[in-house]
Amino acid sequence: MQENPFKFGRIVNDPFFTNRKKEMKLVRALLSSSNNLIMISPRRYGKTSLIDKVIKELKHPYIMVDLQLVTSSDDLAAQIIKRLFRLFPFEHIKQYVKNFRIIPSITLNPISNEVDISFQPSSLSTLVMEDAINLIEQLSSPKKRIIAVFDEFQEIKRINSNLDRQLRSLMQHHKKVNYVFLGSQESIIRDIFAKKKSPFYHFGQLLPLGKIPYTDFHEFLNSRFKQVCPAYDQITASILEITQCHPYYTQQLAFFVWERYRNPKPPEDPVEKTVSDLIRLHDMDYERLWNTLNKTDMKILIGMASSDLSPLSEAFSKVYQPGASSTTFSALKRLAQDGFILKSNSGYEIDDPFFKRWITQRRNR
Ligand SMILES: Nc1ncnc2c1ncn2[C@@H]1O[C@H](COP(=O)(O)OP(=O)(O)O)[C@@H](O)[C@H]1O
Ligand SMILES: [Mg+2]
Repeated sequence: MQENPFKFGRIVNDPFFTNRKKEMKLVRALLSSSNNLIMISPRRYGKTSLIDKVIKELKHPYIMVDLQLVTSSDDLAAQIIKRLFRLFPFEHIKQYVKNFRIIPSITLNPISNEVDISFQPSSLSTLVMEDAINLIEQLSSPKKRIIAVFDEFQEIKRINSNLDRQLRSLMQHHKKVNYVFLGSQESIIRDIFAKKKSPFYHFGQLLPLGKIPYTDFHEFLNSRFKQVCPAYDQITASILEITQCHPYYTQQLAFFVWERYRNPKPPEDPVEKTVSDLIRLHDMDYERLWNTLNKTDMKILIGMASSDLSPLSEAFSKVYQPGASSTTFSALKRLAQDGFILKSNSGYEIDDPFFKRWITQRRNR
């Protein structure tokens, strides 16, 4: 039997990638000129996949650093330099690194066959960062502009509270680099990029990435389920009804439903069965998450899982009693920041459809 046509959890490209035509056109235009891009969306909506796809199509040299895995300002500098070593011949970069004010130690890692960069701990981190960031510009050329992607950029605040200002003060002088910032925490990213007083104000085009539109996702799922089951249209509809077009959860659910058709006798209600399995699989994680919440958070999530009422409405407050509206409001803000809920034009919703089900199932058990 053929390979499962769905993929979740990592960067996706064709044939696992759908839609995003408008967004890709804009990103392509920005990165083929001398512009910068800031893309925001909740986690797992497809930011990294989209940027990866466009950059590979453009065939520009690029570096991508995920700030989630960076531990300090010096570490960020080291990660940037390490990636530049992948792009250019060793001897070429050495000419520049030789002139650094703080010389890093460069070792060849025999396992990865790549260079490892490290700096002696010192109080000169600003110089280290300055040389590393300026190296991107030095190695770039107008004909082959380097695209520098900083993924999960909201983490910059955790690494060092002043680092965003420092980066801006260096990057603003660069003429040959396209900078791309991806962020999953809208409030922090907007603080850095969208406020008049913020360090990166007007530094680039802000692109909020939404879910994948229903018709596109419907077509994507249908064309794949058509090959394995006659009731494909119904399967697609039930999957999208549960996941509400969330890119990651849709692909995840579709993947496991599709796996059921490897069996010559799939169950009658494959979608429901799969959802139950997924909830059971994540039971321990969900329990652990649940226990990190305070009472107000719990009441809000229970209300949101059990009804369609807006958590800020009077009716909601009457039934689920989360407390004063200011308390509810700050709890919603925190829950959104921690990724439990999403705020969209149509209001608030729980991010993970399986966690949502888990809450009501546990309550009704
Ligand atoms: N354009 C797309 N078409 C189909 N599925 C997608 C698309 N973009 C993302 N996904 C799904 O979402 C998952 C997470 O994507 P990713 O790019 O890692 O998101 P982010 O960087 O926003 O966290 C992917 O593994 C895939 O299952
Ligand atoms: Mg990502």
